[in-house]
Amino acid sequence: MATAPFIIVAIDGGAASGKSSSSRTLGEQFDLLHVDTGSYYRALTAEMIRQGVKPDDLPGLRSALAGLKLGTRLNGRSAEMEIGGRVAGEEIRSREVNDAVSHFAAIPELRTALLTYQRGLADVARARGFHGLVMEGRDIGSVIFPAADFRFFLHADAGERERRRAGQGLQDQIRERDRIDSSRKTSPLTCPDGATSINTTHVTLDQVVQQMAAALATKLRPA
Ligand code: DC
Repeated sequence: MATAPFIIVAIDGGAASGKSSSSRTLGEQFDLLHVDTGSYYRALTAEMIRQGVKPDDLPGLRSALAGLKLGTRLNGRSAEMEIGGRVAGEEIRSREVNDAVSHFAAIPELRTALLTYQRGLADVARARGFHGLVMEGRDIGSVIFPAADFRFFLHADAGERERRRAGQGLQDQIRERDRIDSSRKTSPLTCPDGATSINTTHVTLDQVVQQMAAALATKLRPA
């Protein structure tokens, strides 16, 4: 009997570009393990703040990172990252973390600490019997899984993205975070060569998901 295919889907884009909603929906439709890597950068940022480490204190950051034990907990289809056995809570959406996360995410040592961990989640997905992995972030199609079966890059006008965040009742420094995320030296936010770029400004989430799902369905039957 032929084994079912296992696919890796990379979804990158700026804040409020539609990554989370579309990747969660695709996860449901195709039985994929869903990974929100932004929440991992947020959790590490919250941990650095808790330990009193500032982004410009490289020795302090290195020693804090070396002391961290990362693990994975599955919550339904979602792969949550444990730090020292604990999954971070709502504090990762706080104003303090929001303002600091792009500064920590620009530090190569911090990105390296997450690189192997993120790649290893493909093995977790296989071992748990999922039909694949859908990972969202800023550098998934460019650095983490450049050979992913599908790579999407979502973007939308900043004004529209600010309206979306406000509609969720959240305050977010979207333009400032995107500026820092796009201009950093290591793994900047960019549409990688060969990725499918989708402008989500004037289309509904359903339309975005339909476009992506049609592509995935060429390799994998919906669950
Ligand atoms: O997706 P998000 O807005 O929750 O991500 C929070 C921050 O984490 C974002 O401003 C930049 C950083 N990030 C990153 O540098 N690389 C990723 N793959 C995911 C997020």
